[in-house]
Amino acid sequence: MRHFLDLKDFDKTQLQAMLDYGLEMRRALKAGTSHDTPLAGQHVGMIFEKPSTRTRVSFEVGISQLGGTPIVLSANDMQLGRGETIADTARVLSGYLDGVMIRCLQHDTLMALAEHASMPVINGLTNRSHPCQVMADMMTMIDYHGGLDGQVVTWAGDGNNVAVSWVEAAAIMGFELRLACPEGYEPPADIIAWARQAGAKISLHQDLAEAATQADVLVTDVWISMGDEEGTRLQDLTPFQVNDAVMQQAAPDAIFMHCLPAIREQEVTSSVIEGPQSAVWAEAENRLHAQKAILAYCAGQVL
Ligand code: CP
Ligand code: NVA
Repeated sequence: MRHFLDLKDFDKTQLQAMLDYGLEMRRALKAGTSHDTPLAGQHVGMIFEKPSTRTRVSFEVGISQLGGTPIVLSANDMQLGRGETIADTARVLSGYLDGVMIRCLQHDTLMALAEHASMPVINGLTNRSHPCQVMADMMTMIDYHGGLDGQVVTWAGDGNNVAVSWVEAAAIMGFELRLACPEGYEPPADIIAWARQAGAKISLHQDLAEAATQADVLVTDVWISMGDEEGTRLQDLTPFQVNDAVMQQAAPDAIFMHCLPAIREQEVTSSVIEGPQSAVWAEAENRLHAQKAILAYCAGQVL
């Protein structure tokens, strides 16, 4: 079954093929020429246990552009919200749908859906990872810097779900990743160990200015993710704000990326996100093109 659960399930050739496919689909879309419709006649569901703007709309539009019919499901409006199991939901939906994307609170829910579904399952963000986001982010790096080889990416702040997918991407694609996180906010030890075992060029830092030195990409995320308690997060993460001084440490053509939504003057200043090095709008648009490549892969089109 062609699931898209985590980047670490793929090798470099597969991820590169998906990125190339997404770039080609984007070129065809912008040129107004016809492109593949691998989802013609198919129905793809999307289950949301948490809010979404980009993931929901880019998947819904992407499925339509690939010839399919999207069906958006809020978990609270499903029997899932009243206690029906994810395994039963998976078996029932497999009888109607040709694929399903889920954004869920617990990564285990995604894994159980994949285990019991007889259709492709896509990870649209869990507490653990956000692989669709980092596919769009790599596409954006290719757009701005021509490729991934030799790139140095500095992650600033909370080493949570998006950071985990960055760790996996760095290990597979071979670029350098420096993680600047406060103590206690590093990505989970198991994914760091896995990446190091895989030969990844990753390093952990507690000084963002040091980690940003001559970096090609600065990337961050909100300080309070969906489902997080505020606690002491704001004060713990304050030294990891991406501001003009941090950008000045980076390479002159460095770009700033953020999965969005952003909270200005917390993880990033307005001057950076609105400034000339910000790539966030192109990055957000690339969610559409990356999603289409992932959907096409799940439908058996890429590799
Ligand atoms: N970046 C991202 O996944 O955005 P949404 O939460 O709006 O889908
Ligand atoms: N880390 C964020 C990403 C939002 C797209 C969250 O989980 O809320």
